[in-house]
Amino acid sequence: MRYFLSFLLLLLLSAARVAEAAQPSVRGVESFNKGWKFYLGDNAQAKEAAFDDASWRPLTLPHDWSIEGKFDEKNPAKPEGGGLPTGIGWYRKTFTLPAAADKRIYIEFDGVYQHSEVWLNGYSLGQRPNGYISFRYELTRHLRPAGQANVLAVRVDNSAQPNSRWYSGSGIYRNVRLVTTNAVAVDHWGTFVTTPKVGAEAATVRVQTTIRNAGSKEAKPLQVETLVLDAQGKTVAKQTADNVKLTDSTTVLTQTISLAKPQLWSVRRPYLYRVQTRLRRGKTAVDEYSTPLGIRYFEFNAQTGFSLNGQKLRILGVNQHHDLGALGAAFNVRAARRQLEILQKMGCNAIRMAHNPPAPELLDLCDQMGFLVMDEAFDQWQKKKNGQDYHKDFKAWHRRDLQDMVRRDRNHPSVVIWSIGNEIREQFDSTGVRLTKELTATVKRLDPTRPVTSALTEQEPGKNFISQAGVLDVLSFNYKHEGYPLLPKSFPGKPFLATETAAAFETRGHYDLPSDSIRVWPLDGKTKLTTGNPDFTASSYDNARPYWGATHESSWRAVKQNPHITGLFVWSGFDYLGEPLPYPWPARSSYFGLIDLAGFPKDAYYLYQSEWTTQPVLHLLPHWNWRPGQTVDVWAYFSQADEVELLLNGKSLGVKRKQPHDLHVQWQVPYAPGTLQAVSRRGGKPVLTRTIHTAGPAATIELSADRSRLTADGLDLSFVTVRVLDAQGNLVPDAANQVKFSLSGPATLAGVDNGYQASLEPFKADSRKAYNGMCLAILQTTEQAGTITLQAMAEGLQPVSITLKSGAASSTSTKKPAATVATGN
Ligand code: GAL
Repeated sequence: MRYFLSFLLLLLLSAARVAEAAQPSVRGVESFNKGWKFYLGDNAQAKEAAFDDASWRPLTLPHDWSIEGKFDEKNPAKPEGGGLPTGIGWYRKTFTLPAAADKRIYIEFDGVYQHSEVWLNGYSLGQRPNGYISFRYELTRHLRPAGQANVLAVRVDNSAQPNSRWYSGSGIYRNVRLVTTNAVAVDHWGTFVTTPKVGAEAATVRVQTTIRNAGSKEAKPLQVETLVLDAQGKTVAKQTADNVKLTDSTTVLTQTISLAKPQLWSVRRPYLYRVQTRLRRGKTAVDEYSTPLGIRYFEFNAQTGFSLNGQKLRILGVNQHHDLGALGAAFNVRAARRQLEILQKMGCNAIRMAHNPPAPELLDLCDQMGFLVMDEAFDQWQKKKNGQDYHKDFKAWHRRDLQDMVRRDRNHPSVVIWSIGNEIREQFDSTGVRLTKELTATVKRLDPTRPVTSALTEQEPGKNFISQAGVLDVLSFNYKHEGYPLLPKSFPGKPFLATETAAAFETRGHYDLPSDSIRVWPLDGKTKLTTGNPDFTASSYDNARPYWGATHESSWRAVKQNPHITGLFVWSGFDYLGEPLPYPWPARSSYFGLIDLAGFPKDAYYLYQSEWTTQPVLHLLPHWNWRPGQTVDVWAYFSQADEVELLLNGKSLGVKRKQPHDLHVQWQVPYAPGTLQAVSRRGGKPVLTRTIHTAGPAATIELSADRSRLTADGLDLSFVTVRVLDAQGNLVPDAANQVKFSLSGPATLAGVDNGYQASLEPFKADSRKAYNGMCLAILQTTEQAGTITLQAMAEGLQPVSITLKSGAASSTSTKKPAATVATGN
């Protein structure tokens, strides 16, 4: 009875919420993330509306059940897939809708990993194998009359393993929306906005609108009004088509609008307009639909490289998988924005979405923040990389999946190139020619404005059936930078991209000497790794790599020296879960990132920052806690200066300058405890100084929040960095204290991490061991405003706390972070 009453209350509450949100606009778009029930396991009865889910766990989407689980070598996803549990899970949501005569009601899923099937009131709406694709179902036909309870049930089957070469996550891990339209409405992903002519005086905006008539064949003609709004929401151009006849179930209308003095979208100034589409009949509004618009033009040119708005621009990118570290695959806008902020500070201007379509909000962020995007469809076609991967669904689904990716993403100004696949096995098989032609044609039919590529491994024209198809606009290659000089001869007239470079291994804060001997782990494809470090670490001196990869320095140097390579995507921006090469279990996340899984930059981050930005950089490594007498290699990455002088305890160890092609300077220093200082100078004048002191025993903790004013929306996050310090405030570089968190106020602990690739501690916990002196706590707001206090304690250390405010959205919560620091001394 108690359950029944609370169930009833929940029903009434959710009905009220839906009623509030769905009225009275012509198009209702509301989040459908709340009020779900979840069960980990299988139960065929759960699709029935009458099924009793009272004992199921209530939760809010997005949700990834794998990240909540325990690491185990025996988990079927294997360490390669992150070593977390997968399996089958069910979601159910009970809801009522208000009376909606003649309305069409849809549910939109941005991504469900994977093999989902959705039922409404016991009727199957459809299945979708691909775990990264967005899809929608129409609910209208099977909905119960207004006020009566409906039940959506979603079965997610991630049990066939292994199906991925990296961590996928499991569940409804992206947003879900309920969309209500009239019978006549702009179709799903129903606009295509292009700018065929862009000049300083005017731009031509071409808007193709697909109108769906799901109602009577005798629908009366419409008026279609298309407005261009500037960033302030002011209408700056407009065109109206009167008397648009709905001849079929879909009608396509093309309007060409001239826009005076356009503001261009660029990576430095990502100016965004919006296109507002209004369907009307006389004075009655029929639909309203909004599309992002960034006005820019670009070219990949074999002779002159890549240019944006007529200006040469090197694509300085990274590869990113979709997980968000301790949050798993569960998408969160703030977590994604933080990743982009950290990358942008490094000078990164481009992201390759490895190797699948991302959350749509990530593309919105790229539009807003000024990143170029390579949007990628597949990691395999018909030929498998893993026994249970997408190759099984490719035949039946690839056309639909590829079309849906292009339809969904083709209005994002950030997207400048499509990739039809990564290191596809059909490179080695003559079927590669046919499939490359087919997939490229599919993309071109839906978007003739952007080039198509595929990330290849084989550079010799005779050895690659994908390049042999002759239809790729840009040829993209992973690794093998030694071959770059030969490419223009092999493929005359083609522009090139380095879709993957480096793949060097690093563990933050770990250094193996000597720094200039390169560890090749493993040596080749046949030899097992026998030489790695016993603690599953890799040196952060940029001196460890697999046989197919290269150090960051050598691969970046190769790109620099070969101007016909229009840009690069470093493998990878952030560490990601899974693919823990070169190590076996307990390693469970990757070593390739320039930034660790917790979001702390590794040293190589500063190499790129010194090369990719115009700001002065001086980064000194390693730490200064060694054995007396040990010879330590001291490195500095620097820029905007002629030279760097190193001093140990006030005594100069010499001034170094970079020779042509050098990317760092280096000293061999007999270790003595004390103070190591680097000073960069330009024209004899100091530019920057960096100082590292030998740290004493751990004494206290420092907490610093990336943002201290949060929005009380249940979504916003604060990433709190924990550093273990000595009594003088120096980071203790090997501190491994177990830090315990306690939280008060309107927030939850969404995850903890320390960036160590072989840690088997859970991410959902209230404590974390520091790794090389640092760990992270991620706080998530609730919908209540108030003061949040996070306390951190560790045995023998002084406890410390930090206070954050959560309230109504304020400009500080979306703009520059206001860092706060608290220490225990
Ligand atoms: C590439 C592959 C990536 C990743 C990388 C590691 O071959 O495309 O997904 O596995 O190697 O170096």
